[in-house]
Amino acid sequence: MVASVKISPSILAADFSQLGEEVRALDAAGADIIHMDIMDGHYVPNLTIGPGVMKAIRPCSQKPFDVHLMISPVDNFIVPFVEAGADSITFHPEASRHAHRTLQLIKATGCRAGVSLNPGTSVECVMPMLDMIDLVLVMSVNPGFGGQTFLGSQIGKIEKLSKIIKASGRDIDLQVDGGVTVQNAHLVIGAGATTLVAGTAVFQGGAESYESNIKALRSPMGLRAG
Ligand code: DX5
Ligand code: ZN
Repeated sequence: MVASVKISPSILAADFSQLGEEVRALDAAGADIIHMDIMDGHYVPNLTIGPGVMKAIRPCSQKPFDVHLMISPVDNFIVPFVEAGADSITFHPEASRHAHRTLQLIKATGCRAGVSLNPGTSVECVMPMLDMIDLVLVMSVNPGFGGQTFLGSQIGKIEKLSKIIKASGRDIDLQVDGGVTVQNAHLVIGAGATTLVAGTAVFQGGAESYESNIKALRSPMGLRAG
């Protein structure tokens, strides 16, 4: 029996005028993880929230806060986000002068550590860090905005990475982030993803639809049973 895939709604698509309520609603709707998209307007052309806002919404859910740092430089923000309640911190190797040292800094806080691969970044980039990471976040869009179209070119990368993780024997979460919908979720899961990050696909239809949207992503049509 294949373990069911985890759903990690991205708050980027939430109503920012009531972010705490939105996090409570995601928790009640069955989200496994809450994905925090942190953008600095420098590494990516968009600006979102900082540690202070995340600290304010931390009490709204006991689900893991998975912090996706799309910021550069990144090292100085690791401890502030851990102190704000991060359960895992994922960074982009291109955003760090020394990716292995950044991983060491995250691991030293006791937080789970992840590396994010942009569409233009090869799978080989994670090989030197495979023994340290708890998750890999494969970007199926170029980072910076929600509501973009899924890049089908990343399916091969997900399959390749899934084989590498299985061969490593390590328990590494393979997350896919960007343009994931009920129409393509079966392809993403079939390629080996163990967590789907989704903004638009979860938030569409309003809070009364969050639970059904999450369920539809977790068990999409077209996914072979067993
Ligand atoms: C993009 C973010 C994604 C994005 C996903 O830079 O990392 O998490 O918010 O949003 P959708 O699911 O709408 O593509
Ligand atoms: Zn993200």
